[in-house]
Amino acid sequence: MSAISGNGLYLGLMSGTSLDGVDCALVDLSGPPALAATRFLPYPLGLRDALLELSQSGSDELERAGRLSVELSALYATAVNGLLAEAGIEAAGIAAIGCHGQTVRHRPESGFTVQLVNPALLAERTGIMVVADFRSRDIAAGGQGAPLVPAFHAVCFRSTQRHRVVVNIGGIANLTDLPAPPNGAVRGFDSGPGNILLDVWASQHLGTHCDRDGRLASTGTVIPDLLERMLNDEYFDRPPPKSTGRERFNAKWLAAKLGDERDYRHAGHAAADVQATLAELTARTIAGGIERCCPGTEDVFACGGGVHNPDLMRRLQAGLGDRHLATTDALGVPADWVEAMAFAWLARQALNRSSGNLPEVTGARGPRVLGAVYPA
Ligand SMILES: Nc1ncnc2c1ncn2[C@@H]1O[C@H](COP(=O)(O)OP(=O)(O)O)[C@@H](O)[C@H]1O
Ligand SMILES: [Mg+2]
Repeated sequence: MSAISGNGLYLGLMSGTSLDGVDCALVDLSGPPALAATRFLPYPLGLRDALLELSQSGSDELERAGRLSVELSALYATAVNGLLAEAGIEAAGIAAIGCHGQTVRHRPESGFTVQLVNPALLAERTGIMVVADFRSRDIAAGGQGAPLVPAFHAVCFRSTQRHRVVVNIGGIANLTDLPAPPNGAVRGFDSGPGNILLDVWASQHLGTHCDRDGRLASTGTVIPDLLERMLNDEYFDRPPPKSTGRERFNAKWLAAKLGDERDYRHAGHAAADVQATLAELTARTIAGGIERCCPGTEDVFACGGGVHNPDLMRRLQAGLGDRHLATTDALGVPADWVEAMAFAWLARQALNRSSGNLPEVTGARGPRVLGAVYPA
């Protein structure tokens, strides 16, 4: 953690598709992005379930969305105020909060994406300017609205010597291709599921949010025909730009692949074997995405919650062959905080009227200033 210096301080708030909670990062942007303080608040169970429910069509959605935005924003404010109190920093010392919000719909093909948050309430409760709704403008410009972290990955991780790829293993996994300049543009896309299906299966069979440390998967054996059925999903072969989410990769998708729509918990496979197969799917689709779309990659740096799963990391290393795999910690940026830091950086881009998207990544018609600003 760096010494805190002056008014280049921004906060990033990230809550991803895993629905695990709120990552809050204080970032010093007066020089190269430096993490100054952090706070994680897990979602209370009820909030998590309500968000999960709202991720599919259902009754009374507007009412539920409104209420959940308020509840979420109260939690965001608690994270921010708690972090600042602990760090001994006044709200007035923070330039802005970049708040991603919680995605409940991502439909770029229909022209919209929805990240729940009530930014006005967050500004009111913290006394800090809030930048929110980063994805909509990119979609309005014909893009996927995702992934948005590659521009930040390029700032932090691009090397003049080595061809690197950064893989963020959240609920969904996304790749950023960083060829050493001048050997091509920065590119990026969602490779497919990261932890999302692993979590679905673990919650059914272990009653826990995730397969902690990949323990269940590590005792299982990959089921070849199930893996093949899953790999046959057309998403994996589609060329970038592409992005995905819980709309596609969810419990229903898994049930269909298991061939038992009625009750996917009892499709005739041992729970550990299915868990192993899902871990293999994540590892293969990340490695396959790198192989196909990032030719010449020498080093792969992972971030996001998936790095804590040794079984998954082992499978990924196997898929990558001779390529070197490490976490972003090796480059000085803690793997758990890269995404939240990216939204702090995106907030500053917005305030500077600088673009936040990379058109080569999202497919937008051009660079765009992202986000809506809610003054303190
Ligand atoms: N010790 C661990 N063992 C296995 N999985 C883990 C562990 N720690 C975190 N994870 C996984 O990481 C996920 C959270 O990752 P995160 O990067 O926060 O994703 P998102 O951005 O989608 O919220 C959890 O849902 C879980 O699947
Ligand atoms: Mg998370």
